[in-house]
Amino acid sequence: MKILASLVLSILSTAPTFVAGAPTTPRYFERAPITRLNLTSAEVQRELGALVSDTTVIFGPEDSRFAVATERWNRFAVPQIQVVIAPGQESDVPTIVKYCNDNSIPFLTINRGHGNPQSLGTFNGVQINMMNLLQITIQPDGKSAWFQGGVYGGLVTKYLWDHGYVTTTGSCDCVGLMGAGLGGGHGRHEGLYGMVSDNIRQLNVVLGNGTAIRVNSTSNSDLLWAMKGAGHNFGIVTSFEMNIFPRGPDTWHYHNYVWRGDKLEALFTALNAFHNNGSTPVNMTANFGNFFMNTTITPDEPVIWWTFAYRGSAADAERLLAPFNAIGSVYEESGDVPYPGISHAQQTGLEDFICIPGNIRITSTAGLQVYNVTAERQIFEGFKRRVRKEPELAAGTAILHEGYSTAAVGTFDSASSAYPFRADHHLMLFDAIVPPNNKKLEKAAWKWADEVRELWNKGQPGRPVDAYVNYANGFEPLEQIYGQEPWRLQRLRALKRKYDPQNRFRYYNPIVKGD
Ligand SMILES: Cc1cc2nc3c(=O)[nH]c(=O)nc-3n(C[C@H](O)[C@H](O)[C@H](O)COP(=O)(O)OP(=O)(O)OC[C@H]3O[C@@H](n4cnc5c(N)ncnc54)[C@H](O)[C@@H]3O)c2cc1C
Ligand SMILES: *[C@@H]1O[C@H](CO)[C@@H](O)[C@H](O)[C@H]1NC(C)=O
Ligand SMILES: *[C@@H]1O[C@H](CO)[C@@H](O)[C@H](O)[C@H]1NC(C)=O
Ligand SMILES: *[C@@H]1O[C@H](CO)[C@@H](O)[C@H](O)[C@H]1NC(C)=O
Ligand SMILES: *[C@@H]1O[C@H](CO)[C@@H](O)[C@H](O)[C@H]1NC(C)=O
Ligand SMILES: *[C@@H]1O[C@H](CO)[C@@H](O)[C@H](O)[C@H]1NC(C)=O
Ligand SMILES: *[C@@H]1O[C@H](CO)[C@@H](O)[C@H](O)[C@H]1NC(C)=O
Ligand SMILES: *[C@@H]1O[C@H](CO)[C@@H](O)[C@H](O)[C@H]1NC(C)=O
Repeated sequence: MKILASLVLSILSTAPTFVAGAPTTPRYFERAPITRLNLTSAEVQRELGALVSDTTVIFGPEDSRFAVATERWNRFAVPQIQVVIAPGQESDVPTIVKYCNDNSIPFLTINRGHGNPQSLGTFNGVQINMMNLLQITIQPDGKSAWFQGGVYGGLVTKYLWDHGYVTTTGSCDCVGLMGAGLGGGHGRHEGLYGMVSDNIRQLNVVLGNGTAIRVNSTSNSDLLWAMKGAGHNFGIVTSFEMNIFPRGPDTWHYHNYVWRGDKLEALFTALNAFHNNGSTPVNMTANFGNFFMNTTITPDEPVIWWTFAYRGSAADAERLLAPFNAIGSVYEESGDVPYPGISHAQQTGLEDFICIPGNIRITSTAGLQVYNVTAERQIFEGFKRRVRKEPELAAGTAILHEGYSTAAVGTFDSASSAYPFRADHHLMLFDAIVPPNNKKLEKAAWKWADEVRELWNKGQPGRPVDAYVNYANGFEPLEQIYGQEPWRLQRLRALKRKYDPQNRFRYYNPIVKGD
């Protein structure tokens, strides 16, 4: 192996909070406040490699695997990664964390790399990549399964389906189950079973000091509350137990439509009637809609693309979809597929555009109860203005509307977990792709992102402004991310003092802002 380049790692500047009682002394380097530490991936391999199982992989930028391991869905605020460590065994994770702490090296857990918040850009250190922790173990009673911390939507869906089960995951196959679930986790089964976080029974967590603990209703139960909605702030989940369910109908029906802008009022009026303010038919699991450019259809304005997924037969689905079939579309397609195929049918499969990493994306989000038709028209007209004035920006922009069936989400007591937004029935995302090194366009994209967010929120006067933690861009106030009720952040901050007093987990919409 050739000589590896020297890598500069930034030292934790939180040294003053490193108090007596912490038993470890630096093993390889002096700990010193506000200084720099250089460590090559070869040194990490030699030193840490001797302490962990031989299935653990350690490499730096010179390795051919580095580019894939550090690829981001959003390149707007990328974490600086010096060394990648992919634990081969769950029991390696405490060792890795202690090694990082002994050497004052920040660490960041990566599941599937879709994390969006700008706070990720403040990170510089070692990546703990969960890619090799993919085991799934269905329990003998068929009511739950254990999952290792690296599993992701598509993998879980396919594995469970093949064994006769389903569970709650995100809707995009590419997204990590923990990445999404620690913040709540919206997906196609939430109307029936609640959010991902609602189905977590227990977790094996490695705390910031490297101590491994069990978190469940009898062991560290206060932390269980926090892991269900604000979990990214508290630890590394090496594995977790979740409810699973009989898989249900053999096929799901999908129906995708493209409408022109003149149908916007008819469509959103029909959607509001259909959803009836949180009363969506439970088997009409998820519908998503995008405003985006399709110049084959028209170069003058965005189109409105919409997709519905029904858990059951085409006949039952189409009865419910009659109001949408009555709105003249310019394109439609429909079909029936086993559940693992529904992601691709709705363009959220592993190979579909939404899952493709490597773009700079400017985003904003909102949580709604019902659609405001006036606001949607304003947003659509704002898009048309960009088509005329900033066509390059318009070409890369999608304005996403999500409408899940939510019945079961509302059956969980709002105070029972850190997930704060059970009254929001619709999740919105503005998502503009901008080319690299184009500050002018980036600025225009931010202006647009803020405008759309404001229009969504102005369209629901009297309701709180919410930013789902997993869609937040991280510039929102913490109350908008973790909930407006003051007790929520108070409780989260108290749990931070208890479980992560050194604030090691401060890169994903941090509750306690770090250095
Ligand atoms: C294309 C796309 C589709 C999406 N679809 C959905 C959806 O359907 N439903 C939904 O709710 N959200 C969705 N999201 C948002 C998604 O929940 C977040 O982006 C989430 O953070 C992604 O997780 P990840 O594992 O892919 O990303 P990562 O960047 O790897 O992880 C995000 C953060 O989670 C933490 N983390 C990850 N794994 C662990 C672990 N094992 N232990 C401790 N901490 C961990 C880390 O802090 C990390 O920074 C989507 C996002 C994108 C980009
Ligand atoms: C580490 O950095 C210091 C100063 O930044 C330098 O003097 C030293 O030679 C470096 N050590 C190695 C092994 O690169
Ligand atoms: C919680 O975890 C502890 C320790 O592993 C275990 O003894 C206990 O049975 C678990 N409780 C529940 C409710 O699963
Ligand atoms: C939607 O339902 C909530 C109660 O869940 C109610 O407060 C709100 O006013 C309703 N909104 C509309 C537009 O009917
Ligand atoms: C949803 O689908 C299941 C069958 O998979 C069925 O038993 C149930 O009645 C359906 N619910 C409604 C409200 O249609
Ligand atoms: C645009 O529309 C055309 C014609 O309906 C279709 O074939 C094509 O797939 C669409 N492109 C995108 C990106 O949706
Ligand atoms: C819809 O949005 C418009 C524009 O912001 C606003 O004036 C109106 O009050 C909203 N309607 C409702 C029912 O909230
Ligand atoms: C690690 O942190 C937890 C929570 O703060 C604490 O209970 C535990 O004693 C710590 N372990 C060590 C070895 O310091």
